[in-house]
Amino acid sequence: MERFAIRGQICYSESQKKIRTMERGYVVCEDGKSAGVFETLPEAWSGIPCYDYGDRLIIPGLIDLHVHAPQYPFRGLGMDQELIDWLNTHTFPEEEKYGDLAYAQKAYAIFLDDLLHSATTRACVFGTCHKDATLWLMEQMEAEGLAGYVGKVNMDRNSPAELCEESPEASAEATESWILASAGLSNVRPILTPRFIPTCSDELMERLSALQKQYDLPVQSHLSENLSEIDWVRQLQPEASCYGDAYRMHGLFGGSCPTIMAHCVYSGEEEIRMMKEQGVFIAHCPESNTNLASGIAPVRKYMELGMQMGLGTDVAAGSSLSMFRAMAMAVQCSKLRWRLVDQSQAPLTATEVFYLATKGGGAFFGKAGSLEEGYEFDAVVIDDRKIRHARPVSVRERLERLIYLDGDASVDAKYIKGKQVI
Ligand code: GUN
Ligand code: FE
Repeated sequence: MERFAIRGQICYSESQKKIRTMERGYVVCEDGKSAGVFETLPEAWSGIPCYDYGDRLIIPGLIDLHVHAPQYPFRGLGMDQELIDWLNTHTFPEEEKYGDLAYAQKAYAIFLDDLLHSATTRACVFGTCHKDATLWLMEQMEAEGLAGYVGKVNMDRNSPAELCEESPEASAEATESWILASAGLSNVRPILTPRFIPTCSDELMERLSALQKQYDLPVQSHLSENLSEIDWVRQLQPEASCYGDAYRMHGLFGGSCPTIMAHCVYSGEEEIRMMKEQGVFIAHCPESNTNLASGIAPVRKYMELGMQMGLGTDVAAGSSLSMFRAMAMAVQCSKLRWRLVDQSQAPLTATEVFYLATKGGGAFFGKAGSLEEGYEFDAVVIDDRKIRHARPVSVRERLERLIYLDGDASVDAKYIKGKQVI
């Protein structure tokens, strides 16, 4: 059995309402999993290797439940449009370029390097509809020690010619060959990725559903993000009782099919009930929802209902890969919703968004997002010395400042499943 410890200023989420901190504590790793957090190292383990990070903060690796790797090159650009215009003007022209593997490798290398040096340990990533580029992204992500799911995107209607797959069969065939080609990977796994209902025909969805069952794969997509999008889905799928039902009809909405739906800004009562019943994960993407003026998701309501939920950066509709930024924006957006929309829904707290960015999203991966015993040993060591304090501050206060001021901190070391990756 391989055992070691790391030592430092520890913070992790115990529950939605409680962050646990421990000064100069130890986290013990046993074969890639946490064996617990300790104030003093148990006698039996006194001889194991211990990496002491002094006054550095140690937190669980952050979980990005929704990010588009091919959109990384244009983040921060084109933020003056709403979803559909933004897709047509900025997103699709960039994604077309990933048919050229050399371009894809160059662009994905930059994305992966930044992801590696961020506090994110696991991510659910959209590629493009190009299988070779998506496979390269997965292989490289695994080689760098990162973990997560990556999807080859499917789209066979309402898409520009260069991205529109020839037919449902052609899209499904390419998807199956990509699934088979990724079989040798272990920490980076395939996830079925119909882009969203407007770009996926019923026949394509049926074929993806067959692949889902055959290969027992999870699914990720977009849901109820923007009002014009929702109207469009209503016209395209009049037989569906709501947007979510258009996924459910094809068996791609939770239950035996683990599912992440990004946004859920305008989900109605029926859609919410279906998501809750089927255990669909919501990826809340506050920066994206702000940049594309999509709206403010009712996150307090989702929390009160006990829905499965985490945070996503949604680059490039979100401009930053930083999950700290996503946390701060989740708090800020919830305050605007409370002040301007619904005074009965209290704003989120730092404690709650830290939970969403760790244990909340981590639940999609089984036991990830905590330092507690039994969880995957995913930890990041943070150097926050540039955030200067004029008075003594607690570990807990340092974490709160980090959430708002993360631009001034850097990741010193990162462990995923017990393996040090930086
Ligand atoms: N809906 C369909 N495609 C996309 C995308 O790339 N980004 C966002 N934010 N929403 C989408
Ligand atoms: Fe998205």
